[in-house]
Amino acid sequence: MSRKNFGAKPLSLPQPVWIIATYDENGVPDAMNAAWGGVSEEKELSVCLSPSHKTCKNFALTGAFTVSMADRAHVAGCDYVGMASGNQTADKFARAGFTATKSAFVNAPVINELAVCIECRVKSYDRETCILKGEIVNVSVDEAALTDGVPDAEKIAPLCFDPFTKAYRVIGEKVGEAWSSGKAIADIEKGGIRSAAEKKPASEKKQR
Ligand SMILES: Cc1cc2nc3c(=O)[nH]c(=O)nc-3n(C[C@H](O)[C@H](O)[C@H](O)COP(=O)(O)O)c2cc1C
Repeated sequence: MSRKNFGAKPLSLPQPVWIIATYDENGVPDAMNAAWGGVSEEKELSVCLSPSHKTCKNFALTGAFTVSMADRAHVAGCDYVGMASGNQTADKFARAGFTATKSAFVNAPVINELAVCIECRVKSYDRETCILKGEIVNVSVDEAALTDGVPDAEKIAPLCFDPFTKAYRVIGEKVGEAWSSGKAIADIEKGGIRSAAEKKPASEKKQR
């Protein structure tokens, strides 16, 4: 087996394509694209944000931000907010084709056009490490993206970021059930997981 080394780089595939939205001091919404983030605790997400961003100035004032999932229908707008800055382009949010409704939970905009939104209160931001931690206070999903009350990945068509080719890809095909597909090789039992290899028929155990 031969493998190619790519070195110590942030090359995790897939990365999310998060659209982080904030209000400025005048209530004008801004949005930016962020791929270097993830869920870090049950009610916490973390993302690495450069302090020069307008977004960082905004959440320092408001103490809040939202994270929406970029999707197939809004690729251009989602990429645009990753290139233009609210520091220079005051109407960046509208130029991206987005409209906002204020979150009922935090002082930050929910992007109407994107179906899934995580509404967060700022827990901490470290300008040295650039790590922003947000407390998740609500997740809201457009009713049109639900099937039988459950968010439907096929309707949402969320994007992921492919850092190898700097591409956006659509997350789609379902290929298994979590905590279930693996039952073919492991039985989940009280107190732990026993692999199929360890599992012996009762008759065999008695003989030992
Ligand atoms: C695919 C993609 C991913 C990005 N990920 C991040 C990120 O994780 N952290 C970050 O600080 N900037 C990231 N950026 C850059 C910001 O989105 C960009 O600098 C933006 O203009 C900041 O907007 P603002 O100044 O209005 O807040 C990313 C851009 C793109 C296109």
